[in-house]
Amino acid sequence: MAPSAFLFIVWVLVRCASGSFPLAQNVTWKSTNFKTLLFWQPEPSSDYSYTVEFSAIGQNKQKSPHCIQSSETFCDLTSYLTDLNACYTADVLSGPPRGGTSDLIEFPHTTSPRFCPYRDTEIGRLDFELIRNEDKTSTTLQVTDPLTAVFKDGRQLSIRDIFSDQLQYKVTYWRNQSTGKKVLQSKNSNITLTDLDRGESYCFIIQALIADRSLDNQLGEMSQTKCSKNEKPSIFQVFSLGVIAAGVLLLLLLVGTVVGITLVCYRHRKKALRRQKGLPLQKI
Ligand SMILES: *[C@@H]1O[C@H](CO)[C@@H](O)[C@H](O)[C@H]1NC(C)=O
Ligand SMILES: *[C@@H]1O[C@H](CO)[C@@H](O)[C@H](O)[C@H]1NC(C)=O
Ligand SMILES: *[C@@H]1O[C@H](CO)[C@@H](O)[C@H](O)[C@H]1NC(C)=O
Repeated sequence: MAPSAFLFIVWVLVRCASGSFPLAQNVTWKSTNFKTLLFWQPEPSSDYSYTVEFSAIGQNKQKSPHCIQSSETFCDLTSYLTDLNACYTADVLSGPPRGGTSDLIEFPHTTSPRFCPYRDTEIGRLDFELIRNEDKTSTTLQVTDPLTAVFKDGRQLSIRDIFSDQLQYKVTYWRNQSTGKKVLQSKNSNITLTDLDRGESYCFIIQALIADRSLDNQLGEMSQTKCSKNEKPSIFQVFSLGVIAAGVLLLLLLVGTVVGITLVCYRHRKKALRRQKGLPLQKI
C-alpha cells in the first residue's frame, strides 16, 4: 500500500511539474508579400520549449520541422501556407525542452488569430521611376511590382501574378512645397499624369491597392517620395550670358547717352538764360 501511495505522489508531482510549462503570449502573424511568420512571447527558459502546429480551417494539423521543441519565439511558415485563399490558425504548444519528454497527453497551448494570406498579407512598398515625357506636358510613373515569397513552377511570382486585375495603384501627388494633395487611382502600372503645371516640381507617393479586399486592408505600404525636377527655365537658360552682358552694356550706354544729352541741354539753357539776362543791359 505504502509504495503505491508513494508512486502516486511522485506521479502527481511530475504531472504538476510538466503541467507548469508557461503559456506563449501575444501570438501574432507578421506577413508581407506572402512571407509569413508567427511570433510570440516570452523567450523560454531552459526548462521548456515551444512547438508550433498549424492547419487550414477544417484541415488536419501539421508541424513545421523547424518549429518543434524550439527555443525561438518565431516560426517561419511561408512555405507551408500554400493555399493563398485558405485561412489558417496555429497553436503554440509549451512542452519539455529539446530532447526532454513528458507524459502529458495535451500540452498547454495558445491559439493564434486567424490568418488568410490573400486577404491579410501586407503589400510591401512599391518602387517606381519618374519619366518626363518628351513633350514635357505630361509625366509617367512606371511602377515595378514587387516579388512575393510565392513560387510556382520554379518562378517567383510578383504581386501582379497573384492579385491580377484586382491590383491597382493609388498615387498621391502634390506640387513641391505646397500642402494641397491630389489622389489618383490607376489600374495600369504605367501611370501618365497630364494635369500638372508645366515646369513645376511635383512629388509622388504610390501604394498598391487590392480592390477586392476589405477597406481597412486594401492599401499597401507607402513608397518612398519621389519629386520631379523643377524645370521652369531660369533667366540664364532663356538668354545666354553673352546676350545678358550685351543687354547690360546697351542699358549702360542708354543711361550714359540720356545723362550726356541732359547735361548738354542744361548747359545750353544756362548759357541762353545768361545771354537773355545780359542783352537788355548792353542795350541800356
Ligand atoms: C504581450 O504584449 C503586451 C502588450 O504589448 C506586453 O505588455 C506584454 O509584456 C507582452 N507579453 C510578454 C510575455 O512579453
Ligand atoms: C510601360 O512602359 C514601358 C516603357 O515605356 C514599356 O516597356 C512597358 O511595357 C509598359 N508597361 C505596361 C504595363 O504598359
Ligand atoms: C522639393 O522640395 C524640397 C523641400 O520641401 C526640396 O528639398 C527639394 O529639392 C525640392 N525638389 C525639387 C526637385 O525641386
